[in-house]
Amino acid sequence: MLRHLRKKVVSMPATQILPVDKASIQIVGDTVTVSDETTLRHLARAAESVKVPGSVVAFPTETVYGLGGSALNDQSVKAIYTAKRRPADNPLIVHVSGVEQLERIIMSQLHRIPKIYEKLIDKFWPGPLTILVPLEAQCPVLGLVTTGQDTVGIRVPEHAVARALIAMSDTPLAAPSANASTRPSPTLATHVQHDLDGRIPCILDGGACAVGVESTVVNGLCTPPMILRPGGVSVDDIKQYGGAEWRHVITAKKSAGKSEPVRTPGMKYRHYSPTAKVVLFTGCGDGVTAVANYMAGRPEKVAVLRSLHFASAHDMGLQPVLERSMGTSCSEVARNLFRDLRDADEAGVDLILVEAVDEEGDGLAVMNRLSKAASETVTG
Ligand code: TXA
Ligand code: MG
Repeated sequence: MLRHLRKKVVSMPATQILPVDKASIQIVGDTVTVSDETTLRHLARAAESVKVPGSVVAFPTETVYGLGGSALNDQSVKAIYTAKRRPADNPLIVHVSGVEQLERIIMSQLHRIPKIYEKLIDKFWPGPLTILVPLEAQCPVLGLVTTGQDTVGIRVPEHAVARALIAMSDTPLAAPSANASTRPSPTLATHVQHDLDGRIPCILDGGACAVGVESTVVNGLCTPPMILRPGGVSVDDIKQYGGAEWRHVITAKKSAGKSEPVRTPGMKYRHYSPTAKVVLFTGCGDGVTAVANYMAGRPEKVAVLRSLHFASAHDMGLQPVLERSMGTSCSEVARNLFRDLRDADEAGVDLILVEAVDEEGDGLAVMNRLSKAASETVTG
């Protein structure tokens, strides 16, 4: 007898976007007060959800959107890796609501926050700074989070929605950026939806992220201390406010071999990559000559992302599908960078021509992301 076998199609429900208003949230210690009724309902729902094993929630931070699940539950951590399609040897940052929660849940009587971080924590927490602390035997953070490293990355986000979510659930959240692996990090809820729709139940939508690039990751457990990833706190600020030990901080190299453990964020994997080819122009002044030379004989559809010095695309003799000024200061470029790369990609271009910024101050974090996104660099 012939039987028609129907393939079972499992369709995931669409991801829900839950608006929240950060201005309506007040946090004192771990006590959260929310004046807006919708924000309270959505936060409470997300806070209940992250306590359920295997459940994840996307949420805004001041840097980029994160995809959070309990750092103490292996089903939740697995769900993060699965939703993002992230390689399982790239460790996750654990987000806590403050030093109190860190000491109560993650550290122990014997195992204190290393002294070398004291001044940095006072100055930059809550904020875009991730520190590595030693992974002690009694630490409840799962090996799946740290992927075999002997340290755990910890951060206290400044964004009221993120901190309220962690405080209300009283759950330390393992949370990578909420993009699909290899894509630019999300700075709007719609970016998360674009990458993860149907793969996660909900996104708390708190609007655009103010910093726009991820946290600075520092390792104070080695000598000299190291910046593993430049980010929202500049190297100059670390040197200025960290105390004597941080004055000679070094910045880790940018790439690692395939078999090396991932000691430095993003060293070994493709990162921040739109589908279109990104070409980075450094030291090319107004760009008119360099871009014209580069584009000679190329019929591709292009986008132009300018920063400080580039002339208009019209002056370069181009008719781009999309043209953006990312900003006139490095912090403004940082805020707009991922959004503009994503928008250029959505516009269906073949090439994204991007003007570099100086690798100083906030420019270091921008150039770190841009040099990973670019497959070609034109130097003036
Ligand atoms: O701003 C941020 O840090 C955002 C928001 C959501 O908080 N999160 C973020 O996470 O950027 P993710 O997973 O996309 O990047 C974290 C990086 C990874 O590349 C990982 O290699 C590194 O931090 N990392 C985490 N724990 C580490 C550890 N124990 N040792 C070395 N690197 C670590
Ligand atoms: Mg990431």
